[in-house]
Amino acid sequence: MIIAIDGPAGSGKTTIGRMVAEALGFALVDTGLFYRAVTVEARRRGIAADDVSALTLMIGAIRIEVNTSAVVPSGALLSVDGRDVSRQAHDPAIAADLSRIAQLPAVRQLLVEPQRRSARGDAVVLGRDIGTVIFPDADVKYFFTAPAAERVARRRRELDQARGTATSDAVLEQEIGARDRADQERDIAPLRAASDAIIVATEGKSVRQVFDEVMARLPKH
Ligand code: DC
Repeated sequence: MIIAIDGPAGSGKTTIGRMVAEALGFALVDTGLFYRAVTVEARRRGIAADDVSALTLMIGAIRIEVNTSAVVPSGALLSVDGRDVSRQAHDPAIAADLSRIAQLPAVRQLLVEPQRRSARGDAVVLGRDIGTVIFPDADVKYFFTAPAAERVARRRRELDQARGTATSDAVLEQEIGARDRADQERDIAPLRAASDAIIVATEGKSVRQVFDEVMARLPKH
């Protein structure tokens, strides 16, 4: 069974997706990691974020491994050719290149099959275009929404917990705003709810409430 969860940055996909996968004993496939792997490796090789031919060659030549364990993995979350790049993958310094690379049709096309392969069997699959492009026949599709201000506040809490950094709200607003625009305005596979997706408005709800809502709407077997 494939459970697709799409939505913008900070809408709660990762937190809820992990809980759902754990509760059901499913794999968790966070497809953003594929775009992050390509971005980290391109930067390491000095390939520009708009150099489509170099990126295409690179993607054909590398092995991206995404950890799909629903419990927070003890080993590498993400590796490229056996090198653990989990930490670099979430470095805010890659954000601008990440958005640019995720907009390139050739890159998106090359990452379709690896994403599908990583979600064989029972899986919760997180992304932007899972219900529309990667798994249009998913057994159930959710589309998470939350206003930008609430998503900024969630990111703030995550960052505060993770590193105690002093990123200002203005910087976070800019980052989320830029990601929203990049996700929504790209020509290929823009962020959009599939026509058969269940819309989950997470605004003002606790993690528990959203989790319960998702579990209650799973198809019955
Ligand atoms: O979910 P995330 O923040 O890890 O996603 C990283 C980037 O990849 C973000 O810019 C959106 C993009 N992305 C995408 O375009 N399609 C997906 N299925 C997943 C992520």
